[in-house]
Amino acid sequence: MSTSFDLLPSFDELLYHTAQSLDGFNEDFDPQTRSADERFGDFQANGVLPFAKKAGKNPRELAQILIDALPPSENWTVDLAGPGFINFTLTPKFLLEWISEHGSDSAISNSAHSESPKKVVLDYSSPNTAKQMHVGHIRSTIIGESIARILAFQGNEIIRDNHLGDWGTQFGILLLAIKEQKISLDDLGDDPIAQLEDLYRQGNARIKEDEVALAKARQELVQLQDGDPENLQLWEKIRDISMSSFLKIYELLDVKFDHSLGESFYRDQVDEVYQGLSKHKICQEDDGALVVFHPEHKRFAKQPFIIRKSDGASNYATTDLATLTYRQKEWQAEQIIYVTDGRQRDHFEQLFLTAQKWFDADKKTLPTLSHVWFGTILGDDNKAIKTRDGQPIKLIDLLEEAIRRAADMVKQKNKDLPEEEVQRRAKVIGLGAVKYADLSQDRTLDYVFSWDKMLAMQGNTAPYLQYAVARISSIFRKVERSTEDSFTHARPPESDAERKLSRKLLFFPLALKQATRELKPHFLCTYLYELATEFSSFYNQEKVMIDDVKAKDLRLLLCASTQSVLKTGLNLLGIDTLEEM
Ligand code: ARG
Repeated sequence: MSTSFDLLPSFDELLYHTAQSLDGFNEDFDPQTRSADERFGDFQANGVLPFAKKAGKNPRELAQILIDALPPSENWTVDLAGPGFINFTLTPKFLLEWISEHGSDSAISNSAHSESPKKVVLDYSSPNTAKQMHVGHIRSTIIGESIARILAFQGNEIIRDNHLGDWGTQFGILLLAIKEQKISLDDLGDDPIAQLEDLYRQGNARIKEDEVALAKARQELVQLQDGDPENLQLWEKIRDISMSSFLKIYELLDVKFDHSLGESFYRDQVDEVYQGLSKHKICQEDDGALVVFHPEHKRFAKQPFIIRKSDGASNYATTDLATLTYRQKEWQAEQIIYVTDGRQRDHFEQLFLTAQKWFDADKKTLPTLSHVWFGTILGDDNKAIKTRDGQPIKLIDLLEEAIRRAADMVKQKNKDLPEEEVQRRAKVIGLGAVKYADLSQDRTLDYVFSWDKMLAMQGNTAPYLQYAVARISSIFRKVERSTEDSFTHARPPESDAERKLSRKLLFFPLALKQATRELKPHFLCTYLYELATEFSSFYNQEKVMIDDVKAKDLRLLLCASTQSVLKTGLNLLGIDTLEEM
């Protein structure tokens, strides 16, 4: 996904085009410009080195030829370094102009549009009904929401679809238990979802030992899938009970879906899947089941992708194939992003391979398919996080605990704050901390869940970033100015601290680009943390309350821009901020 958030001079383009008219270069030359270590400049092009080596030329000489041919600019200076690197340093005047023009909330969002906006379906959260959301679902919800925001920010059209697991084997087990124990779904007490989950757990334990019960549970599922009215009615009630428990969590997390179609929505479309794949001989019968092999693939040549079980029931794979075609046909999705646990990597790889063959056979264009997978949240013992008695932690309990802990922090700092305000702040801080702790790690890694770490006021945490935002608000209250002012007297940055903070502000588009390219929000987190740290040292070194109007305006401009970028960035992570903390 290319964005035109290229508010920075494109040194890559400049170098490439200049090189084409020079002896010794050709189209293969890739300048490879990236942001540079601040000791060397702001951007560094490393591409001459490998190019010269391949061509058997002296890299330093070749780089010098290129530098000499560059048009002069008021915006940057250039020099040769090391074995053939080209370093660009932005001029103070350029830094000032850039920040004045692009450093406010509205300017950032106006300029963040994508060159080629896409219609993207985001399939995330997607818990299974009849069970509570556990801590495992938090990652899909938080990461999915952040990616949705990041892509929407750049002008893409996002369809948020909560692909509920509401048509799976759990219903066979649950229906059997409900019927055998003559349970009424209308009076399950005040925590109905917990009751259902208990029933399911008992039932699940039973079918593992009792083959007759297993067969009965399977039969209940087949009956449900065949449209048996009694089973359908029970199923609908279970779905409603589940949905209202999920909604509580989504409200807390500030997540709203455009659709919650779920697996059941596709139940009448599974025949099309069987027929489509059979017609093109993409699937085959195997022991009574319908399966897809991928002979060209190392593992999937032998490991089947089962699309219809031997008892005739559809499964996760069938509904996912139906879902994919639906999203392409009805929504014209150009990209579909699935956010799940890494343990589903095989499923999605097989799904994507199968879909590719099907679409090719039908001469249709397959949307870009991306599996955004993540690792496990671990407890202190480095194993998947559990309660003390070994149960999965309920997400709602975890979120409530986050708010409680944050409320203690808020009360400690502000003894006389009204309770309502304590709660408001605690929500922002507590939920922000949980979200940020998840997003700030490379999503493919496991991480250890630690309250102390995520709520710390120092380090790469949400409270640290939120505090930077609040601190800047308090500066503006003191000088009786607004962050929205235009700071027309500002002079270009001079001191080391002014310069460093300025250049950091310019790198926001780069961080956003990287997070977008890799669908990994942690790149944004790392950037925001570095920006907040840079701000902190700037603020320790430079006074803002001074008489020199030009210096004061520049420093206020830097404060205002820092706050804008922090707020915008945090919002893309789904995290709120406060005026006071
Ligand atoms: N319900 C599944 C689970 O809880 C996740 C569904 C992900 N989306 C999909 N289209 N398969 O693991």
